[in-house]
Amino acid sequence: MTTLTIPRPDDWHLHLRDGAMLRAVLPESARHFARAIIMPNLVPPVVTGADAAAYRARIIEALPADARFTPLMTLYLTEETDPEDVAAAHTSGLITAVKLYPAGATTNSASGVRDFERVRPVLERMAEIGCPLCVHGEVTDPEVDIFDREAVFIDRVLEPMRRATPGLRVVMEHITTSEGVAYVAAGNETLGGTITTHHLILNRNHLLAGGIRPHYYCLPVVKREKHRLALRRAATSGEGRFFLGTDSAPHTDALKESACGCAGCFTAPNTMALLAHVFEEEGALDRLEAFTSRNGPAFYGLPVNEQQLTLSKTDRPLHWPKDLPTEDGPVTLFAPGFDLYWQITVDDHPARPA
Ligand code: NCD
Ligand code: ZN
Repeated sequence: MTTLTIPRPDDWHLHLRDGAMLRAVLPESARHFARAIIMPNLVPPVVTGADAAAYRARIIEALPADARFTPLMTLYLTEETDPEDVAAAHTSGLITAVKLYPAGATTNSASGVRDFERVRPVLERMAEIGCPLCVHGEVTDPEVDIFDREAVFIDRVLEPMRRATPGLRVVMEHITTSEGVAYVAAGNETLGGTITTHHLILNRNHLLAGGIRPHYYCLPVVKREKHRLALRRAATSGEGRFFLGTDSAPHTDALKESACGCAGCFTAPNTMALLAHVFEEEGALDRLEAFTSRNGPAFYGLPVNEQQLTLSKTDRPLHWPKDLPTEDGPVTLFAPGFDLYWQITVDDHPARPA
């Protein structure tokens, strides 16, 4: 197979930031992706419907004139979140989901949840109205090894929360372990799981062996090879529970290449080429569209995009610039350590799917 046409993909977990960074990175996602779930971990975070409306307006304002891209907004869940504010924002179509960060789990998560009992009324209201909860699934207990934090989160937090709030739709985001894969695969129709591009490519040796690679540092941190292989099997399975959330998370090089570097891989520009490479390696190019374009809309109850995107395999390796310049400084693009051959074009005059 050397060309493949699929419905335009969606990104079910994306960091766009704000201000100069937003203006620089947004076109990179809008080029290929028709929609994206926009993470609310700004400083200060997007906590109310009014915050989400203002952030959405800033995103629309920053879009290139010819872009066809819809931001799907989220609210950052805090212990002070008002269930009625969430319900109003969801019912009006302003937000698509609510994001749960355990306090301290990752970048800009200080206002996240410490006591999960305190957000129960919000979760119950969300279950009633069908508003999904996107979950950063890692415990923050300093006693728990960072490589075990996802598996422990499933037992200590996620499973009890789902049992206590039946009907709550939950996306376990950026799963990184075989335990995460198994948990999502065994769940009912209220559970989905997103997988990033970089977790299909990296294991912890890539991050740490032969020198520390700050541009491969992200959260949840990349794990052992057996976990990467489990993620590849899940992503390429075609199984409806699993869909793409790139977690493309730009930070300037100054913040990445530092004594205490920020977590995040910036994969928006080359994600589709990387995924085509991975799916081809797995002999699963025919299942790429399930992962990038069909399973996510099905989970969220949204239509599949009508526009199409074509992937064509070239003979010569493709080249991206090493970094994206921004007014805040350069942002290094994710470099996988191998050549890429899949060129991407978005069709201008798409046919309506039959
Ligand atoms: C994200 C960021 O930088 O906002 N970083 C990351 O490594 N993924 C936060 C997150 O999604 O955990
Ligand atoms: Zn993220």
